[in-house]
Amino acid sequence: MKIGFFDSGLGGLTIFNKAIKNIQAEFVYFADNKNNPYGIKAKEDVKKYVFDNIKTLVSLNCDIIVIACNTATSVAINELREKYKNICIIGTEPAVKVAVDGSKLKKNILVSATTMTLNEEKLNNLIKDLEAEGIVQKVALDKLVEFAESGNISSEEVKVYLKSRFKGYDLENFNYLVLGCTHFPLFINEIKEVLPKHIQIVDGSDGVVKNICKSIDKNKIKIQNDEEIKVKLLLTEEDDNFIENFKRISNINDIEVEII
Ligand code: DGL
Repeated sequence: MKIGFFDSGLGGLTIFNKAIKNIQAEFVYFADNKNNPYGIKAKEDVKKYVFDNIKTLVSLNCDIIVIACNTATSVAINELREKYKNICIIGTEPAVKVAVDGSKLKKNILVSATTMTLNEEKLNNLIKDLEAEGIVQKVALDKLVEFAESGNISSEEVKVYLKSRFKGYDLENFNYLVLGCTHFPLFINEIKEVLPKHIQIVDGSDGVVKNICKSIDKNKIKIQNDEEIKVKLLLTEEDDNFIENFKRISNINDIEVEII
């Protein structure tokens, strides 16, 4: 079984790391590091990058493709599923439902994501369908993507940025923060440090891994239990720092790298 993961950069690792603990397969991780970050670019450009890159994963005969990126999911998932009807494509979206279901205190929910994800119809339809327009507020944390890609995780600069972004919200009235970008869980400690203790943090990665497992069963994809876990990393630009960060975050050293 081969599973392809796709993100603009390192963020998809927050899903990938959980997947490799639960699933035995051959893994391909595609990072469009040349075009990262996606969240502040023009929608049409991002769509084009996503389609070009998914074409590569399709050509590698992946049984399942995981769009481990909320931004790419929000602009392209419907059309990708339309185009590749025979491939199981799993998306990632902000876990607003988890927060709404748990939000018994009738306090507010803060959804963080990239600017593009926050503005896209997909998220806004989800909030409408959950009848949560009155309790959801949004905060764009685009700069976390850049910080993560440059390996700048637990610096003072990150904390100053987070504090400045949360400053405009009356945090006492919120009980959830949804992490709607796969890069954001990399900053879980820093986020916890700047938020009041009562705010629970929700990240959708467990839900995505569950969806991968479900679709393995549903599509009766064969798993060989003795299959050795292999990881191939595809990049759109050569970058030794990216490879180092990838190895550190995934805790895998033995990876085959290819520049596309
Ligand atoms: N990791 C991504 C997401 O979940 C994209 C970040 C970006 O490239 O801006 O949205």
